[in-house]
Amino acid sequence: MNKDIKKIAVLTSGGDAPGMNAAIRAVVRSCAYHQLDCVGVFRGLQGLIEGDFKDMGPRSVKNIINRGGTLLKSARSKEFRTAEGRRKAYDHLVKAGIDALVVIGGDGTFTGASVFMEEYDFPIVGIPGTIDNDINGTDFTVGYDTALNTVVEAIDKIRDTANSHNRLFLIEVMGRDAGDIALNAGIGAGAEEILIPEQNLGRERLITSLKRSKKSGKSSSIVVVAEGDQSGKNIFELADYVRENLDDYEVKVTVLGHIQRGGSPSCYDRVLASRLGVGAVDALNSGERGIMIGVANNKIVYVPFDIAIKGDNDIDLDLIRVADITSV
Ligand code: F6P
Repeated sequence: MNKDIKKIAVLTSGGDAPGMNAAIRAVVRSCAYHQLDCVGVFRGLQGLIEGDFKDMGPRSVKNIINRGGTLLKSARSKEFRTAEGRRKAYDHLVKAGIDALVVIGGDGTFTGASVFMEEYDFPIVGIPGTIDNDINGTDFTVGYDTALNTVVEAIDKIRDTANSHNRLFLIEVMGRDAGDIALNAGIGAGAEEILIPEQNLGRERLITSLKRSKKSGKSSSIVVVAEGDQSGKNIFELADYVRENLDDYEVKVTVLGHIQRGGSPSCYDRVLASRLGVGAVDALNSGERGIMIGVANNKIVYVPFDIAIKGDNDIDLDLIRVADITSV
């Protein structure tokens, strides 16, 4: 046990993700289990700056494991990027007698946490919480599995109507820098084409492929486009390009948007969040800091913040091959 740590604060920051509540619950209950005090920080890093804190015990997190969103609210804080903002945050932490911090979020959250930790020598550990799955060193982030299931369910519904009307649907899914949702949900929903930011093959290829599909007897088509895909200026412009170059189909666009971030977390996300929450308090207790708790090959791993946020989340080439083969 690390005797210097008696009071731990927990916050959620950046885009919310289903399962964040389960992670908060696991951190709060882990603190209670180890007889440590726990404080919830509202609205992420911005709440640190404003000292928006609340004491939390095991009963303050009852009935939340099944709820989407985050009980502690979330925000993207511009002020935390300034030295002045971070100084205010540090003052509030000291005043509240907080010895360590657990941050639940994505790369922006870990970047802010890392800078703060260096500046003030303050113990922080992170839990990857983002639907994008774009964090290095962990196989999965909290919220990703639920988002995939939401997307697949939505595309299944769109397929019904696409098929009834012999239409081509371009469906935009989230992921401004990462194609994980598009690629996996695209395979799971049987998309004809999947366009991702990591691989821009050009829009001419899309037309060739759609013509080939039509020739092979397909009467409707689903194309999944990640938000960050570079094939067109945006999905509507890409749809215009397809209309101009392909008269075989009537082309429709659906942007799934923020429904992908909501909803009750899947069992996988609840278990993952619970494991990572317990792992975060264990890590602080054993003197760790500056790391994200992740899961690799189904084992808990510690990943230094600078590796987690490296931003070179490789796309699985085997999945691209599977998508190509299964869409012939
Ligand atoms: O980082 C998660 C994410 O949902 C991205 O996929 C998306 O690009 C972004 O957040 C949207 O952010 P906001 O809700 O702030 O518009």
